[in-house]
Amino acid sequence: MWLILLGLLALPVIIFAYIELRVAHRRRLVNKFNGPATVPIVGNGFQMGKNPSDILNQVFNWWHQYGKDNFRFWIGYYSNILITNPKYLEYILSSQTLIQKSDIYDLLHPWLGFGLLTSTGKKWHKHRKMITPSFHFNILQDFHEVMNENSTKFIKKLKRVAANDNIIDFQDQTHYLTLDVICDTAMGVPINAMENSDSKVVHAFKDMCYNINMRAFHPFKRTEFLYRFFPEYSKYCETLKTLQDFTNDIIEKRVEAYKLETNKKTDSNEFSRKKMAFLDTLLSSTIDGRPLTNVEIYEEVSTFMFEGHDTTTSGVAFAVYLLSRHPEEQRKLFEEQCAVMGSDLSRDATFQEIADMKYLDLFIKEAQRVYPSVPFIGRYTDKDYEIDGTTIPKGSTLNLALIILGYDERTFKDPHVFRPERFEQERPAPFEYLPFSAGPRNCIGQKFALLEIKTVVSKIIRTFQVLPALDELISKDNRLSTFLGPEEERLKFEQKRHKYDPILSAVLTLKSENGLHLRLKERVICEIFLFCSLSTLFAYLLRSFAEFPLLSLALCLY
Ligand code: HEM
Ligand SMILES: *[C@@H]1O[C@H](CO)[C@@H](O)[C@H](O)[C@H]1NC(C)=O
Repeated sequence: MWLILLGLLALPVIIFAYIELRVAHRRRLVNKFNGPATVPIVGNGFQMGKNPSDILNQVFNWWHQYGKDNFRFWIGYYSNILITNPKYLEYILSSQTLIQKSDIYDLLHPWLGFGLLTSTGKKWHKHRKMITPSFHFNILQDFHEVMNENSTKFIKKLKRVAANDNIIDFQDQTHYLTLDVICDTAMGVPINAMENSDSKVVHAFKDMCYNINMRAFHPFKRTEFLYRFFPEYSKYCETLKTLQDFTNDIIEKRVEAYKLETNKKTDSNEFSRKKMAFLDTLLSSTIDGRPLTNVEIYEEVSTFMFEGHDTTTSGVAFAVYLLSRHPEEQRKLFEEQCAVMGSDLSRDATFQEIADMKYLDLFIKEAQRVYPSVPFIGRYTDKDYEIDGTTIPKGSTLNLALIILGYDERTFKDPHVFRPERFEQERPAPFEYLPFSAGPRNCIGQKFALLEIKTVVSKIIRTFQVLPALDELISKDNRLSTFLGPEEERLKFEQKRHKYDPILSAVLTLKSENGLHLRLKERVICEIFLFCSLSTLFAYLLRSFAEFPLLSLALCLY
């Protein structure tokens, strides 16, 4: 009897001792990094903050506290190292073996399976090689047509919803546009989300992205095992099934159409067309000499559906939000639009014209510095790695804090000031600024994303004057309306926070928890004409004369 009781009492102690012993080696190595004091068993879990916005603030606070360098924290027995040191980033991102993703990506598995974003090892290598040509220049040009056409529709919709000085949530609006673009480019089917925003599939996409972001930092909803016990689980399953059925249905139809076409070489059915969607490219690709299975196609297509629209939503929405707060930069952008596009500002910009918009490029770079669409990426060490003389033990989660890089004043002077010109003057080194990551696992859709963001933003600048939700919210001294930094300064900043200032929330993609509110005022034709013809035409002529001295000489002689 006594013995059993003693045994029962001793059991937890034995288990505790066993786990502690197993983790001792990893703990000794990980704790060589600076970091907050830990409590037995829970580690630092309780200090992390309870929502994605608190967590972001805590991470910035710790970074300042621990010498603006890498630091460690423990979530229970999970050892996490937050990486911000460019030397470490270079090592990790250039590695051909440290390519396994951290467990936060597990949340994507039910929907995306193991596509390019979530797979690892041999499978990832082969698929990456196969998919890379899908982003070839020529294909991108086809995609540009979709982006242009869909942005035009977007502008029409914005005119409607933003009429009468209405304050709109731009983040919400953008979601439907990017969904339309990705459906058409990845799968070749228009779903017209902008007009059917109440449709089941459109809802499902939105719910799923929200769900993944929400669960990422929820202590109990994070694991599938525990999530099952929440009442919302059945709704989640329904959403998942809607998306799976939608994608599989299109794949099946395309596969049939593809077979028919390769047999008969006719082009009379509804699924054939000149423009190749990403899905069509997959159908004609092979791996080890065999065509892809339907599951493989499903995984890659859904990966694109997710990666290709949640990120660009954030990219477009924050860029336009920044326009609303920084009128001087908006003026420069508008002038550039006039110079590049000439007198007809309502037409589509060509591929080349988008490339000629240099200030727009600086603007988007600066927007991605302060509000990077992908704020963190994760890796998991499958063995010990030695970086810069320090051992990172097997079984560690590495959180690469891309968002912190933009706020490091050793790279960017006055990081809380929005100044696109800095990218001409300061020129960060390759691993000091990484919105699209770098190395073998960098963003495969970078060119696609930038083209889409620029296409939409360019059209918006030409059509509207973007205004803040309230006139007085215009930025003074070009300072940002958000603050990411040490705790005391942040608390001071928060006291002056306006309800229309964004609350940043960083999970898989950066979002504003309370939306991105602004107003749009349609530009009047005659205002455009006056402005363009006088100021920019003159500047443009001067510039072209400077660029072609021979031509101007000839003109003079003539
Ligand atoms: C502003 C927009 C975007 C940003 C900032 C961005 C950023 C990133 C980053 C940081 C990664 C690395 C992820 C990691 O290591 O875990 C990544 C990977 C990836 N991105 Fe993007 N992305 C954007 C848009 C897109 C678009 C439009 C597509 C597709 C059309 C896309 C497709 C992918 C894919 C497939 C991967 C995984 C690549 C691999 O692991 O081989 N992204 N992206
Ligand atoms: C987007 O563009 C594609 C191709 O140009 C078109 O078929 C589709 O209807 C467009 N969708 C919307 C909502 O404008």
